[in-house]
Amino acid sequence: MNDLFLRACRGEAVERLPVWLMRQAGRYLPEYRAVREKADFLTLCRTPELAAEVTLQPVRILGVDAAILFADILLPLEAMGAELQFVKGDGPSFPNPVRTREDVARLRDPDVDETLGYVFDAMRLVRRELEGRIPVIGFGGTPWTLAAYLVEGGGSKHFDKLLAWSYADPEGLGVLLDRIADVSIAYLNRQVDAGAQALQLFDTWGGLLDLDRWRALALPPLRKIVQGIAGRVPLIYYVNGGGHLLEGMKELPVDVLSVDWRQPLSRVRQVVGSRTLQGNFDPAALLGPIPGIERRARQVIEEGRGGGHIMNLGHGILPMTPVENAKAFVNAVQSTPAPPLPA
Ligand code: CP3
Repeated sequence: MNDLFLRACRGEAVERLPVWLMRQAGRYLPEYRAVREKADFLTLCRTPELAAEVTLQPVRILGVDAAILFADILLPLEAMGAELQFVKGDGPSFPNPVRTREDVARLRDPDVDETLGYVFDAMRLVRRELEGRIPVIGFGGTPWTLAAYLVEGGGSKHFDKLLAWSYADPEGLGVLLDRIADVSIAYLNRQVDAGAQALQLFDTWGGLLDLDRWRALALPPLRKIVQGIAGRVPLIYYVNGGGHLLEGMKELPVDVLSVDWRQPLSRVRQVVGSRTLQGNFDPAALLGPIPGIERRARQVIEEGRGGGHIMNLGHGILPMTPVENAKAFVNAVQSTPAPPLPA
């Protein structure tokens, strides 16, 4: 078994860095687009055989060191009773957004086996098909990021509904965040029962908050989730646009901190120390010529010196990325020795 990824999560020495790509199963792959011709996005998520198939595509095509289950962070909100649609070209939409304490009270506390069992089935299929060759990552969104979509009713330019609520009635919004945390704990634990060997929490919109407000609003439900996983598998916390949150992130007892590309890993290390980092290759750099990709990959490896490091992008791979460029990135990492860990 290639256990580079799990060893790096635990801060152990590795010969070379493990590498995988956020959104590695996705539209940049012609093989993914072919499956999507036959099924819309939510059907794909709800059909374990198809979800398992697209999960394994980047494993076969790119040779990454970890698989991430194909699903979406928004699925547990649907399980809580919020109708979810994916409109072609427009992304996710919640036609009945949650904006008041009364709306929160109407949400369900779902039985995750009944409502999200298809995710666990897909996980079991992936584990069976991989036969232990590489580890499989399960995932969820953070309460703050999930609430961002649920309150806005989808993606948003200003997140004004969410932010207005956070200033007008932080306790009321806190009730929503806490309920999402409880569902997430059940959902993530069942992913582990089904075979997830690590878990990643995606905080796509954590960077909207300043450090004090991140500590007050986003951190309590996050801590609750970390406690609810109880160290069963390594946990990765990813935040986008969170360079100003590093001091707070440092206090979160997770195994791996995953950051975007906006500042070099050497600067991140100055704040968080030798904790295992994940990232932070600029996804847009995969659009440039291959020699530049290879050079930059080695540069990011060098920047990460001083602690564990899992190579990844700073955010999801862009849909227009040429597959050869993604392959060149993976190959460059896999042919470069890891810098030694500090003594
Ligand atoms: O990484 C993987 O390969 C595993 C699968 C995965 C998807 N979404 C599949 C997907 C993962 C881990 C996610 C996480 C996710 N979903 C996040 C957090 C990561 C991030 O990018 O910050 C967020 C915010 C979502 C919500 C979501 N899902 C949005 C906003 C969209 C539409 C925007 C877009 O990229 O199209 C989705 C759709 C989605 N989720 C697609 C995929 C492959 C594209 C859907 C399609 O095939 O048309």
